[in-house]
Amino acid sequence: MTSRLLMPRHVALVPAAGTGSRMDAQLPKQYLPLAGRPVLWHTLRALASVARIDHVWVVLSAGDQWFDRHDWSVFGARLTALRCGGPSRAASVLAGLRAMQPHVAGSDWVLVHDAARPCLTADLVERLIDTVGEDDAGGILALPIADTVKREGGGGRIVETVPRAGLWAAQTPQMFRHAMLLEALSNAALDQVTDEASAMEATGVQPRLVMGDVCNMKITLPADLVLAETLLAGRQSRTERQNG
Ligand code: CTP
Ligand code: MG
Repeated sequence: MTSRLLMPRHVALVPAAGTGSRMDAQLPKQYLPLAGRPVLWHTLRALASVARIDHVWVVLSAGDQWFDRHDWSVFGARLTALRCGGPSRAASVLAGLRAMQPHVAGSDWVLVHDAARPCLTADLVERLIDTVGEDDAGGILALPIADTVKREGGGGRIVETVPRAGLWAAQTPQMFRHAMLLEALSNAALDQVTDEASAMEATGVQPRLVMGDVCNMKITLPADLVLAETLLAGRQSRTERQNG
C-alpha cells in the first residue's frame, strides 16, 4: 500500500491555447467540429481513457471564449482547465506546469500532448508509458521519416538531399518528470522550442524514441481535418462491427 502511494503518477497536460492560424478558420482548430464533437474533446477522451492517467490538465488562452460553450462533463473531476496560455506552445506548457505544481510531485510523469492530435489512441499512450518506465530521460512518440528529405536553398530549388537514416519526426505525447521538464523549459528560449524533448536535450538528456503511428497526425491545414474525420469514422465502424 505504502509503496503504491510512493510510485510516481502519470498525468497529462494538453496545450490548447493556440489560434490555429494555418487552418484559416473562424475559430481555433481545437474547437472545430470533428465527428460531432470539438477536436479537443477527442484529444481529451484519448488521454482520459487510459486508466493510468490520473488527471488531465488543459491549458487555454486567458481570453478563450469557446471552452465553456461545450459539454466536458464526461471527464468529470479528472479534467481541469487552466486559463494561463502563453504566446508560444512552450510558454503555454511552462505556464501549465507551474499551475499544476501544487498538485503533483516532482518525480510524477507529465505526458504533454497537442490538443491538435485528436486521433491518439490509448494503445499508443500505454506503449509510451511502458517503454519509458522509470527512465529519467523520458521519451516521446515519433516516427522514422519515410520520405526522401530535401533542403531548399531558396527560390524553391533543392541544394541538398539530407540522408534520412536516423531521422525521426516527433509526435506527442512527450513524457517527462514534472520537475525536470519545468526546469528545462524555465531555462529555454521559449519562442524557439517547438517540443518538450528539445528543451530536455538542451540539458544533456537523451530522451527515448518510442514508435508512434501515422494516424496520430496533427491537424494543421484544412485537409488534415478531413483526414482525421475519415480515421475516426473508420475506427467507429470497426468498433460497431466488432460489437455486432
Ligand atoms: N499552442 C498553445 N499555445 C500557443 C500556441 C500553440 O497551447 N501559444 C498549442 C496549440 O493549441 C496546439 C499545440 O500547441 O494544440 C500545437 O501547436 P500548433 O499545431 O502550432 O497549433 P497553433 O499554434 O494553434 O496553430 P498555428 O501554428 O497554425 O497557428
Ligand atoms: Mg503554432
